[in-house]
Amino acid sequence: MATQMITPLPTVTSAPPRLDLIVESRALVKTYVTGDGARDVPALRGVDFAVQRGEMVAIMGPSGCGKTTLLNCLAGIDAFDGGDVLIDGRSIARMDDAELTRYRARSMGFVFQSFNLLPVLTAVENVEFPLLLAGMPPTEARNQARAALAAVDLADREGHRPARLSGGQQQRVAVARAIVATPAIVWADEPTGNLDSASSGALMALLRDLNQTRGQTFLIVTHSREVGLLCDRIVHMRDGLVLGEERPRAGV
Ligand SMILES: Nc1ncnc2c1ncn2[C@@H]1O[C@H](COP(=O)(O)OP(=O)(O)OP(=O)(O)O)[C@@H](O)[C@H]1O
Ligand SMILES: [Mg+2]
Repeated sequence: MATQMITPLPTVTSAPPRLDLIVESRALVKTYVTGDGARDVPALRGVDFAVQRGEMVAIMGPSGCGKTTLLNCLAGIDAFDGGDVLIDGRSIARMDDAELTRYRARSMGFVFQSFNLLPVLTAVENVEFPLLLAGMPPTEARNQARAALAAVDLADREGHRPARLSGGQQQRVAVARAIVATPAIVWADEPTGNLDSASSGALMALLRDLNQTRGQTFLIVTHSREVGLLCDRIVHMRDGLVLGEERPRAGV
């Protein structure tokens, strides 16, 4: 692999919250306790990490280094064992479940590594689902879902159930579902993992456009250097720690 310029990150101290940060982790620790006699897995070993509002950040690192775990802890999907996560300057350790659920539903969109599409729903029904949950009238929800599917180039597949879609098409439905409600933060775990380079480029162009026109923040876990290079910042992880970062677009 080519030599990379990686700048070490300063350690985040117990400073007061900064308003320009949309999400921040401080000395975040997560250990999976297996309970079956196998050794516990220290998945995050003190992660200091911060994302500015409107930033597009890639998280890269070898398989098993803790990327999905970090995303899940930052988004309040997974509990953690030490440290803290601040969203909009507020500690999620201090939010109750109802508050966190509301926050997630209103402000976050997710593209899961395993897509998590509902198998009994068609593509358009999967995409409109979060809008209906949020109480949007069905006709409006259907129109927005159709527009989101068209944006990921799947207008002609809206009536297909996931089993009748390719892996890359399912992935794009998952992206459409994540962006349809214009959430402030979109968490995307390998959103281009099943796409060829042309579709991957088109998807990244769409995300960048949403980022610039709507000011949405994107956190993108990726194994693809090309995808990383299209982001404002690449954060490198290894063995449950953030090693450093690169700013590929500096001077762009
Ligand atoms: N539910 C779990 N129970 C026990 N260990 C787990 C669990 N989930 C993840 N792990 C372990 O925690 C570590 C970090 O896993 P994680 O899924 O965050 O990696 P990752 O960086 O996303 O990898 P990949 O690139 O393969 O998706 C791995 O060693 C993994 O085996
Ligand atoms: Mg993962």
